[in-house]
Amino acid sequence: MKILIIGAKGTLGQALVQEFSNHEVLAWDREEIDITDLEATSQKLKAEKPDIIINAAAMTDVDACETNIAAAQKLNGDAPKHLAQLANELDATLVQYSTSYIFDGSSKDGYAEGATPHPISVYGQTKLSGEHSAMLARKHYILRLDRLFGRSGGGKKSFVDKMLEATATKKKLSMIDDEEGNPTYAPDIAARTRYILENKLPYGIYHTTNEGSCSWYEWAKEIFKIRGIAVELERAHVADFPRKAKRPQYAHLINTKLPPMRSWQAALKEYLAS
Ligand SMILES: NC(=O)c1ccc[n+]([C@@H]2O[C@H](COP(=O)([O-])OP(=O)(O)OC[C@H]3O[C@@H](n4cnc5c(N)ncnc54)[C@H](OP(=O)(O)O)[C@@H]3O)[C@@H](O)[C@H]2O)c1
Repeated sequence: MKILIIGAKGTLGQALVQEFSNHEVLAWDREEIDITDLEATSQKLKAEKPDIIINAAAMTDVDACETNIAAAQKLNGDAPKHLAQLANELDATLVQYSTSYIFDGSSKDGYAEGATPHPISVYGQTKLSGEHSAMLARKHYILRLDRLFGRSGGGKKSFVDKMLEATATKKKLSMIDDEEGNPTYAPDIAARTRYILENKLPYGIYHTTNEGSCSWYEWAKEIFKIRGIAVELERAHVADFPRKAKRPQYAHLINTKLPPMRSWQAALKEYLAS
């Protein structure tokens, strides 16, 4: 079984490479492949003939997407279509990751797999387009996640690392308390990906986040509690921090298809101990 991991140096990509280390893995990032270069991508994939194509590459800077619409669409929306076509030609399985940001976040009750998407940002729109693209693969899995954390690559830091870094110089922090989501630990998503593939679950959409939700304020509070860091933490509102892109206020993904994952607090504890 040959597994191609694209975006292998990203937060999720690194965890995937680790998770599948006992398989034949091709771990490709930008240096090895630019998936928006269709010709080069076709040539490389047809030469390697992977059985499984896992696409963890994306433009994930939500604010940057607002001003780079064409580039965001090309990578998040169009490249998965080409991967889907190649997957069909090679009779391979395509795994594509998506996001809670395909929803508008107006429902406090959350969103199950079949809920109607309504993105409110360019990132969300392009990721939804990526879902439609991935669905063109006969064998496809779309895993939606939210607020990823874990060991990051390329200088990009997750919320957890940013919080720890901030406390090196600040003893008082203001965090948004009126926007909620599901923190998701990259190694847990990698393990979930493996579970879905190994158990040959039906193709389709899966919601894969750690159990439980919280605001940014609550998440920061838990980080400092686990690490025993004394910081004065203040509740703030979305309106206090103007950002280019709109975010869903309640980005809860409801998982109705898979056994629940461990809580985000348990995953966070493991990450902070590592
Ligand atoms: N991060 C989150 O909070 C979050 C939340 C929900 C869903 N997701 C989804 O989860 C998946 C993984 O996200 P992540 O945070 O792990 O991403 P990430 O850390 O930004 O990693 C993406 C990787 O893909 C590479 N890449 C970028 N453009 C490429 C291209 N054209 N061809 C090949 N590789 C390219 C990046 O290289 P460079 O660093 O050089 O650009 C980077 O190494 C994505 O589908 C994302 O939309 C993420």
